[in-house]
Amino acid sequence: MKIIRAKDYYDMSRKAANIISAQVIMKPNCVLGLATGGTPVGTYKQLIEWYNKDDIDFSEVTTVNLDEYRGLPRENPQSYWSFMHDNFFNHVNINPEHIHLPDGTNLDAAAECKHYDEVIQSVGGIDLQLLGIGHDGHIGFNEPGAAFELGTHCVNLTQETIEANKRFFDGDESLVPKQAYTMGIKTIMQARKVLMVVNGKGKAEIVKKAFFGPVTPEVPASILQMHPDFILVGDAEALSLI
Ligand code: GLP
Repeated sequence: MKIIRAKDYYDMSRKAANIISAQVIMKPNCVLGLATGGTPVGTYKQLIEWYNKDDIDFSEVTTVNLDEYRGLPRENPQSYWSFMHDNFFNHVNINPEHIHLPDGTNLDAAAECKHYDEVIQSVGGIDLQLLGIGHDGHIGFNEPGAAFELGTHCVNLTQETIEANKRFFDGDESLVPKQAYTMGIKTIMQARKVLMVVNGKGKAEIVKKAFFGPVTPEVPASILQMHPDFILVGDAEALSLI
């Protein structure tokens, strides 16, 4: 585990974008595992800026996203498909055919999860997986208690996650989907490199627990302690307890 200390959110975003950029330069046809949430938005913004300066080229890159709400069509502004297009894909030269997210409208969970695992396999696995972390230690939507050995699966979101995510649904909890399809911990652990971004005081406790506490399914992110190439980029506040 490598911990990179950043001064603030902007610095965290630039450092993370630098690592992604290095990956794309070293392997232009790499597979990037991407994440949603507020934390990586600055990272995407920085990558877009460098793309606009002609410093990075996404034309050969393939992406697989971590998760998607079950039941939300792509076109829904709160879907992760929309999030990724608004915050990243629409602003760079990525080939739309190379973009993969679970299909939230396929309500046959078993079929969709199997299909998504096949997609990840067919592109050769993930070179670099970008992650944020939930306040309860979830990664993707692998909530506390999730088995470490799972591939893509359907989850019931915890009350804490529903509350944390209602800010994206006009603050209305009843609009937040209660289930999601998520890559499993097994898939995340199989990524050749894992990069987590974390910022703010609110994440300091969970960072300490996840990376300096015991490895346990009760804190899903804790398994990353065992990953051979895990980089944590945090701002001063998020890393203040370690
Ligand atoms: C959601 C996403 C996670 C993300 C988490 C934290 O639950 N599924 O991938 O890490 O939110 O989001 P934020 O970065 O906004 O704190």
